[in-house]
Amino acid sequence: TREPLVLGIETSCDETGIGIVRGRTLLSNTIASSMEQHARYGGVIPEVAARAHLEALQPSIEAALAEAGANLGLPGPLPLSDLDAVAVTSGPGLAGALMVGVGAAKALAVSLEKPLYAVNHLVGHIAADILDTEAGPLEYPTVALLVSGGHTSLLLVRDVTTDVELLGETMDDAAGEAFDKVARILGLPYPGGPEIDRAAASGDPQAIRFPRGLSRASDLDRHRYDFSFSGLKTAVARWIEQREAAGEAVPTGDVAASFREAVVDVLVTKALDACARHDVPRLLLGGGVIANRRLRDVALARAADAGVTVRIPPLSLCTDNGAMIAALAAQLIASGREPSTLAFGADSTLPV
Ligand code: KG4
Ligand code: ZN
Repeated sequence: TREPLVLGIETSCDETGIGIVRGRTLLSNTIASSMEQHARYGGVIPEVAARAHLEALQPSIEAALAEAGANLGLPGPLPLSDLDAVAVTSGPGLAGALMVGVGAAKALAVSLEKPLYAVNHLVGHIAADILDTEAGPLEYPTVALLVSGGHTSLLLVRDVTTDVELLGETMDDAAGEAFDKVARILGLPYPGGPEIDRAAASGDPQAIRFPRGLSRASDLDRHRYDFSFSGLKTAVARWIEQREAAGEAVPTGDVAASFREAVVDVLVTKALDACARHDVPRLLLGGGVIANRRLRDVALARAADAGVTVRIPPLSLCTDNGAMIAALAAQLIASGREPSTLAFGADSTLPV
């Protein structure tokens, strides 16, 4: 039997992602970002993101169909009528942004008389790995660490279609958000992750010992796999204030490197602790913060020491995208899952 041809729509944050897959095969992955419109605010403005999705959706769908048509060797764009299903992120994310994608997906599915699959954004991030055909099929169980501007979550995945357990998540800021906020404190532009990465290259990661949130013995009972980055951000701000009050220059490189080290340390330590405790020798990384060179290096080195293999999908599949949503739906269809009814809505706090 032919593998399902699915179009996925992702609008949970500031990326309008349209992806088309056939089973595990990626046919297109178009991403329009409203990042630049948010840059001067230092963070994503929900209303601006929602409006940008509305404007980007139609051209993005057309571009995705054209790309898929070309990849399939068709003379023109893939006809919408060829699709087997439509998939959409119904949560978690920004409510208004999600609503635009959900509305569009429903309209598309109803008008085409195709089944519609509402999927969870975080589970979608895990499913992105399915499209990494070079790495071979995702093996179970695996621990997944998802780190972006919107989320920082640690999950235990026994089966991406039926059994994903949230082990922990951030109690305050997401890791990417912490990078963005600390960059702002240092006077670096948004998004801050790549800027901190660049500044850190010339700094000493051991120069300043910044706090590792929720890693003390007393925290580990209740928050073993949870994260907290707002205390770290405050510690960086305080450290800089004291320097400036004393009339001393702020060593941007050292602050950036030491801050990055604190984030990376706590992320990798908790992920590998989860692997050890659950006896899982596999770790999957996802989310935009995975672009961080130091995070990849430390994760790979420490995982090797612990006998854990690490999978990192290509970055275009790590950041928010529609292909991961389509890939998850294709897996759900293959596993016999019934489509969603039209009764679902956007759910900004949708659990896994
Ligand atoms: O997944 P993503 O593209 O989108 C959303 O979260 O919406 O992640 C973006 C986040 C931003 O917070 C950005 O600062 C962070 O990922 N980021 C990085 C790096 N590149 C992007 N953080 C640390 N190091 C990087 N090299
Ligand atoms: Zn995401």
